[in-house]
Amino acid sequence: MLARVTLPLLLLASARVQAKECTVVQATDGADDSPAIIDAFTQCAVDSTITFEQKNYSVLTPVSLTGLKNVTVKLNGNLLLPKNITDVQIQVNTTTNQPSSYAVPWFYIFGEDVSIYGSDDKDWGAFHGFGQQWWDIGQRILRPQLATFNVTNGLLSGLKVIYPVAWGFNLPGKNIRVENHYVWARPTNGTRDVTTSFPFNTDGLNVSGQNITIDGYFGENGDDCVSVINGARDVEVLNGFCGFSSHGLSIGSLGRGGSVQTVANVRFNNWTMDGAVYGARFKSWTGGQGFAENVTWSNIKLVNVSTGIFITQNYYDQDKGARPNNTNETATRVTNFRYENFTGTLGTNWTDGTCISSPCWNFVQGIDGSQAVIFDLYNGTATNISLVGIDIKKHDGGNPNVLCDPATLADGEQNTLGFQCTNGAFAKTDIKPDDGTGAAMRRGAATLAIGAVVLAALSTLV
Ligand SMILES: *[C@@H]1O[C@H](CO)[C@@H](O)[C@H](O)[C@H]1NC(C)=O
Ligand SMILES: *[C@@H]1O[C@H](CO)[C@@H](O)[C@H](O)[C@H]1NC(C)=O
Ligand SMILES: *[C@@H]1O[C@H](CO)[C@@H](O)[C@H](O)[C@H]1NC(C)=O
Ligand SMILES: *[C@@H]1O[C@H](CO)[C@@H](O)[C@H](O)[C@H]1NC(C)=O
Ligand SMILES: *[C@@H]1O[C@H](CO)[C@@H](O)[C@H](O)[C@H]1NC(C)=O
Ligand SMILES: *[C@@H]1O[C@H](CO)[C@@H](O)[C@H](O)[C@H]1NC(C)=O
Ligand SMILES: *[C@@H]1O[C@H](CO)[C@@H](O)[C@H](O)[C@H]1NC(C)=O
Ligand SMILES: *[C@@H]1O[C@H](CO)[C@@H](O)[C@H](O)[C@H]1NC(C)=O
Ligand SMILES: *[C@@H]1O[C@H](CO)[C@@H](O)[C@H](O)[C@H]1NC(C)=O
Ligand SMILES: *[C@@H]1O[C@H](CO)[C@@H](O)[C@H](O)[C@H]1NC(C)=O
Ligand SMILES: *[C@@H]1O[C@H](CO)[C@@H](O)[C@H](O)[C@H]1NC(C)=O
Ligand SMILES: *[C@@H]1O[C@H](CO)[C@@H](O)[C@H](O)[C@H]1NC(C)=O
Repeated sequence: MLARVTLPLLLLASARVQAKECTVVQATDGADDSPAIIDAFTQCAVDSTITFEQKNYSVLTPVSLTGLKNVTVKLNGNLLLPKNITDVQIQVNTTTNQPSSYAVPWFYIFGEDVSIYGSDDKDWGAFHGFGQQWWDIGQRILRPQLATFNVTNGLLSGLKVIYPVAWGFNLPGKNIRVENHYVWARPTNGTRDVTTSFPFNTDGLNVSGQNITIDGYFGENGDDCVSVINGARDVEVLNGFCGFSSHGLSIGSLGRGGSVQTVANVRFNNWTMDGAVYGARFKSWTGGQGFAENVTWSNIKLVNVSTGIFITQNYYDQDKGARPNNTNETATRVTNFRYENFTGTLGTNWTDGTCISSPCWNFVQGIDGSQAVIFDLYNGTATNISLVGIDIKKHDGGNPNVLCDPATLADGEQNTLGFQCTNGAFAKTDIKPDDGTGAAMRRGAATLAIGAVVLAALSTLV
């Protein structure tokens, strides 16, 4: 018997719900624990509790855990991927697990009302990817995404992701809360500025679902802490720390290859970004379509961050040739973005270990590490952007610069922006009071939008 199954006496008496408890029994001699895990999740797929003991389970083959309904998982132990890189690659190449936007997940979890609790003990409740050895040899082919949690009504509480190979948890589901999430993807022997041993693509959380709250996060990684991508709606990303060489609190990328992609109603609040390439980032591809609407980043503390606030609607692969012409003359629209209460300092450098092309993937004409704000807009397609309460200093304590081409601003947009759109010193501007013009009407919509997002926040917190 692979899983130990028990039927609590008390609940056996109930005719309606046959509650079950399964314990995943660890294989002997370090053999593959995947069959026991699948067995437990099959026996206890409905109205059940599944417990992992305080042991290291070797998950040597990808697992797909589907058909779950009303299941509580207690991850008191750790789940370990194989250490053999070739073996992982062969399995990533052949598993039938449904791919995410990034890669094929090692763990695929699908169902309704699924809660996974990590251990309170810092050494347990962890997923170990043994990513360091992949980073050391720069192996970036056939990497897995750690997990896809495709659940309606889900909870991930106190999980730890240690040396992931690459991307962490993918969240395409609905009504999900992630709390006290921990990601450790800082190389043991590399720095943020060097390519060797750099943890490429180690995103903490990829969010494409609806009504998702992330509350409590600590991560040291080499890509986005949280990236909110196509399809995401009503997302709260609260109370976290991003270190090492994070690529920020990101929306996108959106609109690749001219695709129509959308994101709406997102709030990032109370984050410290330490050593990050970006604080708040939006990225859409040249010629994209669709929109990102109603997004706020608030109460963001920057420590040695390359660029505090960044928007590009003109992204392209800088290592694959010249800037493409936007022949379709489209862009992923940006509407009702608000940046409120940013404090702290910029770093001395705008690069990191991911710069393996020249120019670097994140190069923008004029960038030199002194910019608190970079807006690389596509003509007239960004409306109702406001910066309020911005107090960002250069590394030497001086006033920072901005990159912003006024020729790209939509009509009247300077009135709502809160800083002078120019290539030069950061200078605050008044946000013009309501005067009945188009710009003022757009601002009214923004205020409503913020109100709605805050209300949504309050309702999810209750
Ligand atoms: C969910 O499962 C638990 C047993 O784990 C049971 O007590 C509870 O009644 C179930 N909830 C519903 C809504 O069926
Ligand atoms: C790693 O896995 C590959 C493919 O399964 C296998 O051929 C190789 O022998 C393994 N290496 C070690 C050291 O076990
Ligand atoms: C992945 O699969 C493809 C086709 O199925 C095959 O050509 C390729 O060699 C495989 N790669 C690895 C590393 O197994
Ligand atoms: C998540 O599940 C839905 C079905 O509810 C499916 O349509 C979708 O493709 C899945 N997404 C991922 C990324 O697995
Ligand atoms: C949003 O998800 C939370 C769980 O995180 C749930 O409690 C709440 O009811 C959901 N809200 C809506 C409107 O479905
Ligand atoms: C890190 O250590 C590995 C061996 O464990 C080595 O291959 C790699 O070159 C080291 N990286 C650096 C930057 O020293
Ligand atoms: C910035 O990073 C690049 C790439 O790692 C490095 O060559 C350069 O010396 C760094 N500059 C500073 C001022 O740290
Ligand atoms: C802000 O987030 C940090 C975690 O990074 C948390 O410790 C702190 O309590 C949060 N502050 C508020 C006011 O919620
Ligand atoms: C232009 O739009 C079409 C249709 O949406 C799309 O197929 C094509 O890839 C786009 N071209 C570019 C360069 O984005
Ligand atoms: C963009 O258009 C210009 C002039 O129309 C042309 O010289 C250039 O080669 C084009 N660039 C690309 C990448 O096609
Ligand atoms: C920004 O800071 C001001 C002054 O401390 C405060 O009144 C306001 O509520 C803050 N905004 C947000 C969104 O927390
Ligand atoms: C943006 O917020 C406004 C105001 O709350 C709302 O009417 C609109 O539907 C939101 N946009 C999207 C795409 O959800």
